[in-house]
Amino acid sequence: MGSEAKFKPKMLGIICNWCCYGGADLCGVSRFQYPTYIRLIRVMCSGRVDIKHILFAFLNGADGIFVGGCHINDCHYNPEGNYDALSMYNFCRKLLEHIGINPMRLRLEWVSAGEGIRFANIMNEFSREIEELGPLGKSEGLDDAELSSRIKKIIKLVPYFKLTKMKELALHTHDEDLYTKLYTSEEIDRLIKEAPSYYIDPKKCQACMTCAKRCPVSAIKSEKNKVHIIDQEKCIRCGTCLDACPPRFGAVTKIIGESVPPPISEHERTIIRKNTTTV
Ligand code: FES
Repeated sequence: MGSEAKFKPKMLGIICNWCCYGGADLCGVSRFQYPTYIRLIRVMCSGRVDIKHILFAFLNGADGIFVGGCHINDCHYNPEGNYDALSMYNFCRKLLEHIGINPMRLRLEWVSAGEGIRFANIMNEFSREIEELGPLGKSEGLDDAELSSRIKKIIKLVPYFKLTKMKELALHTHDEDLYTKLYTSEEIDRLIKEAPSYYIDPKKCQACMTCAKRCPVSAIKSEKNKVHIIDQEKCIRCGTCLDACPPRFGAVTKIIGESVPPPISEHERTIIRKNTTTV
């Protein structure tokens, strides 16, 4: 007695319906054992797993996440989703590394419906690795608040990553090795450092509503004769507002590496037009 209770990780497996789930099923039917603390979620294809799913799972306390799909060239969809999974996985691992989370906590494997034993072996091996790593955050030297703030910051940048890295994330090539070389740590660091924010200058905004109409995520608060304001929480940093703002106003500014000025108060938003004549 007196010895510390063995660490029991929280682990998630997101697996595709057609192959990996079949492998998990066969594993169960064949009574191959693996830790019961691994919870499985079935999705139709590994390509359905998004960067945000992974980050939110870590944010909600997962210590390890497994993504399982059909073997390469066996995906049941066309274009093949497991190439998307491969690209997403490599990108995610670099993001985790950037925020100080051990990328070993995320694992991707291909398992066919006939590979019950392979599924059990992967689960056992991965759970052993996560048990050795210990709880998420603690073994990385990050307290809960710091960990959650880092993950939340990265989650906010996901739409920007997708826009910037659209080509790489959608890459489909049969050369699996290429996927591991798609993203370098330096590139990810630069991408995050250069993430832009957009700001509407209250002195220049003429409340023409053009930016608000064009914003794809309705992130701009706009009203007639009122200075428009970008909701930084909703903004996906696509720059549409900058392109949409008529050049004669030039009210939208792109900001990199600095914080965005706070929004003006409600009573300061009203635009007083000098040449307005009252009838
Ligand atoms: Fe299994 Fe796409 S259906 S990876």
